[in-house]
Amino acid sequence: FNVAVQSTASHAMPDTLYGLMYERKPYSPFQTVRYLKRTYRSLQHSGDGGLYGELLRNRAFQIKTPGTTDALEAWAALNSASRISVVKSSTPVSSGLPNSLSLSIPSGTTGTVGFSNAGYWGINVQSSWKYPGMLYYRFPSPPSSTISGTFTIALQSSSGAVLGSTTGAFSSSGGWKQIFFTLAPGTTASNDNNLFVVSTNGATIAGQTIEFSMFSLFPPTFNSRANGFRMDLSQALLDLKPSFFRFPGGNNLEGQTAASRWNWKNTILDRLERPGRMGDWSYVNTDGMGLYDYLQWIEDMGMQSIMGVWAGYSLDGTSLPSSALGPYIQDAIDQINFAIGDPATNQWAAKRSAMGHPAAFKLKYVEIGNEDNFAGSSYNSYRWHDFATALSAAFPQITFIATSATSGNVPSISPAPKAWDLHIYNNPAWFRGGSYNFDILARNGLQFFQGEYAATNSDSGARLTYPTIDGAVAEAAYMTGFDRNSDIVFAASYAPLLNNVNSTQWTPNLVSFTASKVIKSTSYYIQQMFSLYKGNQYLPSTTNQASTPVQWSVTRDSTNNNVINTATSSNTVVFTLPFGTINSAGTGTVLSGNSGASNTPTNPNAVVPRSITFTAGKTITYNAPALSASVLIVNAH
Ligand code: AHR
Repeated sequence: FNVAVQSTASHAMPDTLYGLMYERKPYSPFQTVRYLKRTYRSLQHSGDGGLYGELLRNRAFQIKTPGTTDALEAWAALNSASRISVVKSSTPVSSGLPNSLSLSIPSGTTGTVGFSNAGYWGINVQSSWKYPGMLYYRFPSPPSSTISGTFTIALQSSSGAVLGSTTGAFSSSGGWKQIFFTLAPGTTASNDNNLFVVSTNGATIAGQTIEFSMFSLFPPTFNSRANGFRMDLSQALLDLKPSFFRFPGGNNLEGQTAASRWNWKNTILDRLERPGRMGDWSYVNTDGMGLYDYLQWIEDMGMQSIMGVWAGYSLDGTSLPSSALGPYIQDAIDQINFAIGDPATNQWAAKRSAMGHPAAFKLKYVEIGNEDNFAGSSYNSYRWHDFATALSAAFPQITFIATSATSGNVPSISPAPKAWDLHIYNNPAWFRGGSYNFDILARNGLQFFQGEYAATNSDSGARLTYPTIDGAVAEAAYMTGFDRNSDIVFAASYAPLLNNVNSTQWTPNLVSFTASKVIKSTSYYIQQMFSLYKGNQYLPSTTNQASTPVQWSVTRDSTNNNVINTATSSNTVVFTLPFGTINSAGTGTVLSGNSGASNTPTNPNAVVPRSITFTAGKTITYNAPALSASVLIVNAH
């Protein structure tokens, strides 16, 4: 069939169109469209054990119950003479970290004693990397004669081969002391099954107890930031050329209770003081990635923030009454001031400045809550009103986004939002059919943010573990609707973003990873194709066929044609272009695969994009392969 492209653009493509939705994540095998808010516990170690560079799991025993096996998560004694447990310290290392690891050595012990940490399901040990680290220790009942010795601090393979080690001197006198160290492995490990090990001579400390707290070990980080983010994951995301980062969730913003919400003020404390919290996806969040760390990384990545503020709803189903919202509205005002306020006049902005960033971060969009509109009537009746009214008065330059609806037919709430966040999880058939949803919406000034979407099930209903080519191509079909309607859709982000395959609470995800590997899904490549070739103007087109399995969008930059084919068989499309001179050599990218194909840890490159060339001219005859998405680029003058 034929597609005639028009020469006059209908609208500019927004700079913000393609970005990232991030949070730390539940597994719900039966989930399709989510229109009811559920109670979740925390997201697949996308932050701790993911984007956050920290290598040691359960580094400070945060939110753990002393004496339990769970409190020792990731830690193990080296041998029976090394008795370890998590205790509530009588004199904690800080007010934020009440627990410590107690190592007790029976009298008469000889030989090596100590303990290990297994990292986030392994540790990536590279001989070209240096690993800065630290730990705190104290002797809670120091002997009358001071004992001195050295800890050996090492990275070891699971079979005990030392990959790199150093020492740190200790003494039993005084209270908590900090040891800084750097590990420089001489050997690259053959796999991720490596341990961080702290040991010493048992004879030196026989009969003694030592407490430890706040361990840390970092690999090199993105942009070499202290307390920074993992390089390979950052690079994979950077390769999407994302324009924005929506954070910190998602459900993880909300907390199971108001008290366990993402409390941003706790996340900007010194790392030693951050208490952490029980996240909403069943694991502890260290809050090592604090608000400042997020904002700095977002800036380093060349993105802008779509930042969430807590809006009085927690996942236990509690909505605070209007009369109780005041302190939380002030908290949100403080949070925005932390990001953009003037250090000369605002204490939170002054705090940001003292942390190293006097200039305001870029922040134009703030979302009030997450999916709160799904949670009953309180958002629509007073919470949006109370937050939006106060925040808009304090920050008239910011667009506040209402959250969330499943479609553009949004409820009427007051004050009228300038933007709504829409979330949809469904099967490929829904996405193939959904690409025209935005075409029929009123152009009345209301803007849309498709803040979460993904093909989560096959058309037959089975939950996907990893994105498939079928789902990815259907998402691509839906995304042609974003391009075509980007006069009212200003931003869109697939969700969720990241999944540590050793601790999955929700599937599928855009990028999966292990301690050392990154697996880019079929959906990842679709996001990349749309983002890299977004163009800056949308060119409308018409077709001679009312209904077709092929969907497309045409944008101009130096002239990009994005052709999306959702057919299960090949289809030939003839594009007619309205330009004077067209280079005869067209280039492009195609992603296609057999139905059901996925990129997985064992087969990460099952479906990858390939480059193509084709003959261009005033007409282009393109045979779109079955189950494919194609970007066709022609240069016209
Ligand atoms: O993206 C996974 C979850 O889906 C998000 O936390 C939540 O906003 C949505 O329900």
